[in-house]
Amino acid sequence: MSIKPSITVMNGPNLNTLGTRKPEVYGRTTLADVEQMCRADAERLGLELRFLQSNYEGQLIDWIHETGPAFKAGESIGMVYNPGAHTHYSYAIRDAIEAAMVPVIELHISNVHAREEFRHHSVVSPIARGIIVGFGVPGYSLAIRGLFELHEAEVSKNLKPGVRT
Ligand code: DQA
Repeated sequence: MSIKPSITVMNGPNLNTLGTRKPEVYGRTTLADVEQMCRADAERLGLELRFLQSNYEGQLIDWIHETGPAFKAGESIGMVYNPGAHTHYSYAIRDAIEAAMVPVIELHISNVHAREEFRHHSVVSPIARGIIVGFGVPGYSLAIRGLFELHEAEVSKNLKPGVRT
């Protein structure tokens, strides 16, 4: 029996407060609801879901480091990542993603470009494989689907995991 490849869905600081934090911006869905939705999406695509959230930059970096070898071994298809406010300034997060060579879909629930000026810039976007912005919580499903499609396309082109186009 073959082992299912995994997908990591990771959330940065303050996303544990989803549902109560600024509902007019982020909606009323909780992170537990998001996890349930992602689990159903992953199952439909034949993937194992690893769902993570931390308010600590070091913990998030450790999880990115762990995903690198799993991706290289073909055990993971990559990561959907909402880095929260780290998006706008964390070179440490950016460096970790770059070094791990894991395809990352950067995701934001809100349309960051329609909000305060400091949210318009992302230090992660230049190294992201794709970006999903402003679709609300359903953006997680779009990002999972998008990463899966990219992976399937690369497998069918016979590219090894870890090799970038
Ligand atoms: C966010 C947007 C960020 O600017 C903010 O700091 C967040 C959430 C989003 O999902 O829209 O924490 O990443």
